[in-house]
Amino acid sequence: MHGAHGDDGQDPKEKINYRATFNLLCGLIAPEKRGFFAAFAWLLLSSALSLLSPIIAKYIIDTTIPAKDSRLLIMAVGALFLNSVLFLAFNYLLQMRLVRTGQQIITGLKKRMLAHMLALDLPFYGEYPVGRLTARVQADTSSLYELFTETTVTIFRDILMFIVTFAIMFYFSPRLTLMLSSVFPFVLAISFIFLRKSTTLFVTVRKLTSEISGFLTEHINAIALLQVFNREKMTAEKLDVINKKKFDAELSAEFMMIIFYLSIILLSPVSIAIILGMGGGWAIDHTISIGTLVMFILYIDKLFEPVFRLSEHISIIQRSFAAGHRIHGILARKPAIVDSPAPRYIRSIREGIEFQNVWMRYTDAAPWSLKDISFTLPKGKSLAIVGETGGGKTTVTNLLFKFYDHQKGKILIDGVDLADISLKSLRTSIGLVHQDIYLFPGTIMQNLKLMDESIPDAMVHDAIKTIGLEAFFKHHNLDKQIVEKGVNLSAGEKQVISLVRAMTLNQEVLVLDEATSHIDPYTERLINTAMQRLLKTRTMIVIAHRLSTIRHADNILLVSEGEIKESGTHEQLLEKSGIYSRYYKLQFGEKAA
Ligand SMILES: Nc1ncnc2c1ncn2[C@@H]1O[C@H](COP(=O)(O)OP(=O)(O)O)[C@@H](O)[C@H]1O
Ligand SMILES: [Mg+2]
Repeated sequence: MHGAHGDDGQDPKEKINYRATFNLLCGLIAPEKRGFFAAFAWLLLSSALSLLSPIIAKYIIDTTIPAKDSRLLIMAVGALFLNSVLFLAFNYLLQMRLVRTGQQIITGLKKRMLAHMLALDLPFYGEYPVGRLTARVQADTSSLYELFTETTVTIFRDILMFIVTFAIMFYFSPRLTLMLSSVFPFVLAISFIFLRKSTTLFVTVRKLTSEISGFLTEHINAIALLQVFNREKMTAEKLDVINKKKFDAELSAEFMMIIFYLSIILLSPVSIAIILGMGGGWAIDHTISIGTLVMFILYIDKLFEPVFRLSEHISIIQRSFAAGHRIHGILARKPAIVDSPAPRYIRSIREGIEFQNVWMRYTDAAPWSLKDISFTLPKGKSLAIVGETGGGKTTVTNLLFKFYDHQKGKILIDGVDLADISLKSLRTSIGLVHQDIYLFPGTIMQNLKLMDESIPDAMVHDAIKTIGLEAFFKHHNLDKQIVEKGVNLSAGEKQVISLVRAMTLNQEVLVLDEATSHIDPYTERLINTAMQRLLKTRTMIVIAHRLSTIRHADNILLVSEGEIKESGTHEQLLEKSGIYSRYYKLQFGEKAA
């Protein structure tokens, strides 16, 4: 359901852990403190310059003009011009520094999140859908970027600007400054009301945006299904509903913003009216100079801007804390399956693999997926697992790779508990060909090497020869480009490629999980011939429905409802006349028995 990741992934009832998030943010800022200090220095300089120009203007009006000193006038105007140019230069340096520092932090953070996520286990990926993880890495880090560039340093400028402007104005005319201050409550009220309203509306817009993209991803992924069942119109109508909602929310949000800016703009003529009305009267009485009036008009924006930006800062801070909290949620997540403190490294398997009374369930609430499973797989021998769909065959291999943990019993490799064996060494020595075949965009050759260019081509050709698939790869050029998810290949072609890939990577134990289920009988016969040879020489686990594939395995387990119902060689199992022999008769007819 798109509802699962239709929101931006946050449970509204979930409390933000401010302390942990604050620590995360500080941890991000700390390595970049030099960048922030530099930005701060440029900020002080540019603020000082921007505060200076109204004073120069006052000086020109009140001093140089009455003195009729044109030399002084030119110098003062020159100073004003230079001041503006320097202000632009420092402002440029400030912005560049902030952008650079912000990008540095966000790039580092993304790298850290990706590295962290890659180490996390499959149960984690069961919990977080892909769309939500993408949002964590993209949208949430953008929120933090906004915090670092728009708020961290700038909020100081706004506070400083306000205080200094107020002080200067107060110094030149306390009366007029206090008169102007009567506008503050309005500025604050308008800012808070409108920005609050528009922020909630923008949150709605964001949620609807991610709902639409979730909806699109799901439905485009299932396009063939939708078209076959004529669901295009229904899908379009559903999308229309969300789209219309987004349209309305977007419009209201923008309306709020426009009203907000217009009312802020309106404050400017009001303030100028106050300055010219009240101050003008005092100027007639000669209790205030014309230069001071001009200076006040020039200062107005510098006084109000920080005040109405305050609410913007607050909403950025709120948003960043929500984003930071979610990022922390991922970074704080420890892999469920980790190496023991002193892991054992296995280089090669000498004796074999053993399951001893293994019980496993995926969650505490789920029924047992494996019940009391015991078997041994000596080195060089082959084990086949057959049984009905959902019986627990894949689960056996999931445990062997430590994708999941089991609850009871022991899994031993050469007598060493699997729990004590380093994950990395375990996964480099067992090879897997899975029924969910994933191919990367790239050539067939690159895929066969699993994107590892250090593997020589000769190894690939050897693997192809071992399985006897030279003819297949005559038709399928190794330079052929595979597109994303391998949609330009048939299911069977993908299986052949991933089978050769497992052979190329040449690991010690080969696990094939329904590896040939989509392959045509002709190609399968080719593979089967190779397979019969492999079954006699390699340590392997083969899960297959077609019994012809596995009849030469050294040991066959019949797994059903999480239990081993029967075990033995093909001949022994046929003799038993149990479930296996019934399966066999189903596939090859009565006579085959
Ligand atoms: N990732 C998972 N999370 C929860 N339950 C699972 C998961 N994978 C499989 N199961 C459940 O475990 C049981 C065994 O599944 P599996 O080992 O995949 O069967 P199969 O024999 O078809 O390979 C099934 O009932 C299935 O619903
Ligand atoms: Mg399976």
